[in-house]
Amino acid sequence: MLDRSNELAAWDRDHFFHPSTPMGTHARGESPARVITGGEGVRIRDSAGKVSIDAFAGLYCVNVGYGRTEISDAIAEQARQLAYYHAYAGHGTEVSIRLAKMIIDRAPDGMSRVYFGLGGSDANETNIKLIWYYNNVLGRPEKKKIISRWRGYHGSGVMTGSLTGLELFHNAFDLPRAPILHTEAPYYFRREDRSMSEEQFSQHCADKLEEMILAEGPDTVAAFIGEPVLGTGGIVPPPMGYWQKIQAVLKKYDVLLVADEVVTGFGRLGTMFGSDHYGMTPDLITIAKGLTSAYAPLSGVIVAEGMWKVLVQGSDRMGALGHGWTYSAHPICAAAGVANLELIDTLGLVENAGTVGAYFRKQLAEALGGHAHVGDVRGDGMLAAVEFVEDKPDRRFFDASRKVGPQIASALAERGVIGRAMPQGDILGFAPPLCLTREDADIIVKAAADAVESTFKQL
Ligand SMILES: Cc1ncc(COP(=O)(O)O)c(C=O)c1O
Repeated sequence: MLDRSNELAAWDRDHFFHPSTPMGTHARGESPARVITGGEGVRIRDSAGKVSIDAFAGLYCVNVGYGRTEISDAIAEQARQLAYYHAYAGHGTEVSIRLAKMIIDRAPDGMSRVYFGLGGSDANETNIKLIWYYNNVLGRPEKKKIISRWRGYHGSGVMTGSLTGLELFHNAFDLPRAPILHTEAPYYFRREDRSMSEEQFSQHCADKLEEMILAEGPDTVAAFIGEPVLGTGGIVPPPMGYWQKIQAVLKKYDVLLVADEVVTGFGRLGTMFGSDHYGMTPDLITIAKGLTSAYAPLSGVIVAEGMWKVLVQGSDRMGALGHGWTYSAHPICAAAGVANLELIDTLGLVENAGTVGAYFRKQLAEALGGHAHVGDVRGDGMLAAVEFVEDKPDRRFFDASRKVGPQIASALAERGVIGRAMPQGDILGFAPPLCLTREDADIIVKAAADAVESTFKQL
């Protein structure tokens, strides 16, 4: 009899082109492949029957946890009633209109409209086009450059891969392309001048931004994009006072602010949006992941009223906006979004992310902060990271070729907990579903401490 798992493994190696995967080693069967078959709450199950706590919520997206029938029922019901209609030329579906209203009701003050897409990358592509359109409408054709940050993550499309400040996403793809610039990462632990306080380092980042704007010419700089907390770049909360100082510079030179809240939107920091958490007043907000908890692919750009008014002026002059996706505001995805946002409210998940997140981070810091190779334990809300160093007093990092972070993540997986080896640096990241309990937080922390201990013993 044919062993179905062997057959699947062969098909996987021979036909499935995986994203963000070493292609050769996977195709040759040299790296472990894992087929996930089910999930409930914070736990997932694989085809070998192993159950693990998913302490990264997929790719920080399954915020309400797995197996929520409220969302799957809403998806099924919408598919039966109306699986698709487009949103072009003023068309809509009841569910996509309702979702837009629910998002604006939850968004920071001053936000007015939602443009729907499918994923974080395409939403940031929309942002770039809206920023350029906006400055064309205002008669400022030179004001087009966009400043991002080293270690920022904003997607992997042609323009959004350029916004992303990680070399892995640029190398060999001829990215980044003008007019994208990168400024200093707000990464206090890795600051060059270690005598700086957090406030001083925030000022240093704001000064660097101002220098860049002045060197380029303020009339050429359109926007600044940043995640409230650096995500894929290392899970790094901003140093004290960072966003206040950055926003003062942006205001001075009439530069728009895009808050990329693909990770932080809808509760992850213990507030509905990271912008609320850090006192940011963005002109555009990128949303995806937590909008549907990944039960269906959906993203959006939330546009502030001031910007919206200018876009309308343009459209009154030039006609319909020449920008749209076939699947914008897809009703099945919108149904998932409505059910997901209702569930976040019903289960009190924003509050849980704040309280259990704080507990989880405290336990993690207590268990690992004193380890000779742990340089930093940090995070905010239900986001945490442990950064490893070769020499703690000197803050000397391991050579990347030693793959310390990936080895620790593998050791953790062997213990039934999924964390993520962040792509740049030896950093173990955690972003559990927002429904995490204290008991499961304890299990994650214990497994992490064991994994760290055993990995360093072998190194
Ligand atoms: C902050 C941020 N922006 C944008 C994206 C891109 O989203 P997607 O992978 O859905 O295109 C991500 C993905 O992780 C992200 O973390």
